[in-house]
Amino acid sequence: MKNESICCINNDFSIDKLKNLIFDKYGVNAPLCYLHSYGCQQNVTDGEKLKNLISKIGYDFTDNEDKASLIILNTCAVRENAEDRVFGKIGEYKKLKEKNSDKIVCICGCMAQQKHIAERIKQSYHQVDLVFGTFAFNQFYEMLYEVLKTKNRVFNTTEQQSDISENFKQLRDDKIKASVPIMYGCNNFCTYCIVPYVRGRERSRTEEAVFDEVSDLVKEGYKEITLLGQNVNSYGYGFPKLLRKLNTIDGDFRIRFMSSHPKDATPELIDTILECDKVCKHLHLPMQSGCNRILKEMNRRYTIEDYAEIIDYARSRKPDFSFSSDIIVGFPGETYEEFCKTKEAVKKFKFDNIYSFVYSKRSGTKAALMEDNISDKQKGLWLRELLLEHREVTVSWLSRFVGKTLRVLADREGRTSENHIQGRCNENIIVEFIGDKNLIGSFVNVKINKAMNWALLGEIV
Ligand code: SAH
Ligand code: SF4
Ligand code: F3S
Repeated sequence: MKNESICCINNDFSIDKLKNLIFDKYGVNAPLCYLHSYGCQQNVTDGEKLKNLISKIGYDFTDNEDKASLIILNTCAVRENAEDRVFGKIGEYKKLKEKNSDKIVCICGCMAQQKHIAERIKQSYHQVDLVFGTFAFNQFYEMLYEVLKTKNRVFNTTEQQSDISENFKQLRDDKIKASVPIMYGCNNFCTYCIVPYVRGRERSRTEEAVFDEVSDLVKEGYKEITLLGQNVNSYGYGFPKLLRKLNTIDGDFRIRFMSSHPKDATPELIDTILECDKVCKHLHLPMQSGCNRILKEMNRRYTIEDYAEIIDYARSRKPDFSFSSDIIVGFPGETYEEFCKTKEAVKKFKFDNIYSFVYSKRSGTKAALMEDNISDKQKGLWLRELLLEHREVTVSWLSRFVGKTLRVLADREGRTSENHIQGRCNENIIVEFIGDKNLIGSFVNVKINKAMNWALLGEIV
């Protein structure tokens, strides 16, 4: 039976020792690491920071888990199916580990921050060597050293929140678009949501740190910067002010951000979006529900009337202003009539895009204790109803762009045929058109000919 340590206890650690250990173990051929991030863009960003740490100690990367000496799953806990997928993967690693007991399997991120998950892995998944939550991120080297040196299994779910460190840089795969976190954590405690528990309290990066990073990325040639936070509107040094400052950076690029909590979305934010030429005219504003009773139960701290006010204000200034939203179907106690209010709201607000989810019970949250009488199967049917409702409004609403010319950042090959490419317009809608693949990575003007429910189709002008 292997030893198990709760945390990194190795006090003879140094980065040089870690590098030497890796060199002694694997020789001149760099060992390979497979790293996969699940969940939101914040988590992907963490994965990119880990990649940077890993590359600095001598690893290369692979997409093949078989060939990897180090496997890292950077996990998401937001819904049960996200967690199920990870457990499925971990199950598969049992065989890999039997073939090669030297392989190191690491589970980190939001799922791993939860003690009950770490415990379950400890008891039932012995193929896993290292488990650490989001709070222990900055101890990665020490933990890896411990595992490599002693072969002990390490479990670290510390709840000690550390200050923001500007030392962890991202190793970005994408050369066109870059995500830049501006804040971490969440203070809102929506009753269904696990994020505040696995990510801790809100901490904002300084304006200077964000400004410098965005400036550097633009110099490197990035064309789109997405500012990230669970609720960017509560950015500690004023979010509209930050947007105005970033808008002064020279260069041909655009700025997006997500997410915005409706309780803190103000006319000032809308004005700022409209007045800053580099900021995309699109707001992702998760509504969650169209019913005031449910919004209250969710602890969202706005009414559907407050929500409508933001949309009305934006569209009074720019009638085709683009909104997208997140929606939860089947919150505990929600009735069909209450769900229908969400459907009505989707019809009324004309979102360009919605991300809708069946409610998933998260242990440790307030909603997990609420009575829930509707089956998942029934909720699934409601979700389908909602999507059909949305589909009906999208095509006609997206048609507002037909005949117009939109600036599109081409970013990938097309879906409909070989000679098509795709990109997104300022409003964050997919635009597909005939174009050479070497246009990928640049802005092109596309005249829209047709609206589909998944994209706009057009031609380069
Ligand atoms: N901070 C962001 C959302 C982060 S989670 C915000 O508040 O806008 C992304 C989305 O997942 C949420 O907007 C919500 O719609 C959904 N979600 C969160 N917890 C969920 C749960 N327990 N069940 C189903 N969906 C959930
Ligand atoms: Fe979760 Fe609410 Fe925080 Fe978003 S604002 S991360 S939904 S608690
Ligand atoms: Fe993101 Fe999932 Fe964590 S949505 S913050 S990775 S729980």
